[in-house]
Amino acid sequence: MSNFEVWRAADPVSAGKIGAEIISKTIINKPDCLLGLATGSTPVPVYKELVLQHKKEALDFSKVRTVNLDEYVGLPADHPQSYHHFMMDNLFRHININLQNTRIPDGMATDLSAHCDQYEQQIKKWNGIDLQLLGIGLNGHIGFNEPASVFTRRTHLTNLTESTRKANQRFFTSIDEVPRQAITMGIGTIMAASQILLVCTGVKKADILERTFFGPIDPMVPASVLQFHQHVTVVADDAAVKTILQKHPEFTD
Ligand code: GLP
Repeated sequence: MSNFEVWRAADPVSAGKIGAEIISKTIINKPDCLLGLATGSTPVPVYKELVLQHKKEALDFSKVRTVNLDEYVGLPADHPQSYHHFMMDNLFRHININLQNTRIPDGMATDLSAHCDQYEQQIKKWNGIDLQLLGIGLNGHIGFNEPASVFTRRTHLTNLTESTRKANQRFFTSIDEVPRQAITMGIGTIMAASQILLVCTGVKKADILERTFFGPIDPMVPASVLQFHQHVTVVADDAAVKTILQKHPEFTD
């Protein structure tokens, strides 16, 4: 486990502070870094803290570039549940980022496959991702790379599993409104990032976190591929590390 660094936090807010600290160090060391960003409820405290650091400590995003992991297909950017909307609401509108330096997959693109290729080219043009922030789905998905994803794939169109649609139903008024497809960076794209920052909070994630780092590397648990990455930083709260610590007390040492 020498390629892993683990930070244990008391709760999601503290996990957010630690996550934000790691991101702000990256920005200070490399003001024009390329950050891979994530959505979902887990990164919200991370973004809140980054906004605070921008306001109170003048953390400067003016040269920072960002690429988001994923976006639903069929939701326009101004839809309240689109990841475009999420990023504006939770981060971009509160900091001094140049929106021209940000990219989020376009789920409304007419040629989705060509759009995925262009997305990959943009990441290459920006010399690759310095730090990729990740949450994790209950079934071990990262981005929208669902179980049985091919580990080498790059940005692509994917079908969402029923379990992910159900998990994300809480953001929509009914299950029928939850999109069935998404564009996601592939696991190959994620694994090419220089550093991965996985934030995981809440007791619901305890079992999948254990399977991610202590189970076999298995496409049925997509996040388990992170065991192959050379530089992974895990920030997890007490509730999320519960199962791991029962079996592997050394995890957070
Ligand atoms: C979505 C996103 C993932 C995210 C996951 C977990 O499906 N595509 O990037 O990690 O949800 O979300 P949450 O943090 O809300 O549990």
